[in-house]
Amino acid sequence: MGQRVYINGELVAREEARLSIYDHGFLYGDGVFEGIRVYHRRIFRLQDHITRLYRSARALAINIGMTPEAFHDAVVETARVNEVESGYIRVSVSRGVGLGLDPSHLNSPSTVVISTEQLRLYPQEMYERGLEVITASTRVPPSCCIDPQIKSLGRYINNIQAKMEANRVGAGEALMLNMEGYVAEATGDNLFLVVNRGLITPPSSQGALPGITRATIMECAADLGIPCREAVITLYDCYSADEAFLTGTAAEVIPMVRLDGRDIGSGNPGELTRTLIAAFRERTCTDGPTY
Ligand SMILES: Cc1ncc(COP(=O)(O)O)c(C=O)c1O
Repeated sequence: MGQRVYINGELVAREEARLSIYDHGFLYGDGVFEGIRVYHRRIFRLQDHITRLYRSARALAINIGMTPEAFHDAVVETARVNEVESGYIRVSVSRGVGLGLDPSHLNSPSTVVISTEQLRLYPQEMYERGLEVITASTRVPPSCCIDPQIKSLGRYINNIQAKMEANRVGAGEALMLNMEGYVAEATGDNLFLVVNRGLITPPSSQGALPGITRATIMECAADLGIPCREAVITLYDCYSADEAFLTGTAAEVIPMVRLDGRDIGSGNPGELTRTLIAAFRERTCTDGPTY
């Protein structure tokens, strides 16, 4: 059977999946989303993704129109019918359909789409050798504008601009600063630095998305007895760190070995980074609902 896409309660053939041209997600970026990984027929940290999705929707006063439990089951069912062994699930929810930005004029409930893909963000070689990163001039917006803790569709126009800055100079990723000039995160990943054999990572109050891979790494660090704390991070901290790596559902855990033309530590993936990548890999074998 061909691949299916879940749209508003129905699993339709991928080629027949259609959305209204007046969908608020398309017109205004008025929606929320999640990217989720499947490893060995297990949906990694699905519950955490559902919780974050519902928090994002609540913050934007979007009524998803189904319970988190029903949403959970819809994600599992979509992965099951598509026989996903390992892959990526994209979940998107928009406010609904209607021309004009006033939400009180919407004439439909929220739009819910769940699709499955194969996704590899970087070639294997980059996981082994590490990523070269730049600092983007595009900033993370302050929480009084689009709160970066909300995984909203609209906020990503900034991240796309920053990613294009990286692409222009052949870098694999871009770090984004907040309006105060402190490091928030990368365009699609959280940042960790290794300093004095401990980990530091920017808190969400500095503009970092509360990443689920980030939370997993924090748990791995606790299990391994590696100290880990949230800290306000400057570019100096990055340039002078012993090691650095990025975490995200799409990128997974990837060493960051150069920033703005400076080697980080030895310029190679470090020992603690490698240990944490191995610990993360182990967790992907056991976590999440299976089907
Ligand atoms: C801006 C941004 N930061 C961080 C992350 C990492 O979050 P997670 O590990 O939950 O995928 C993502 C990806 O979802 C992201 O888009």
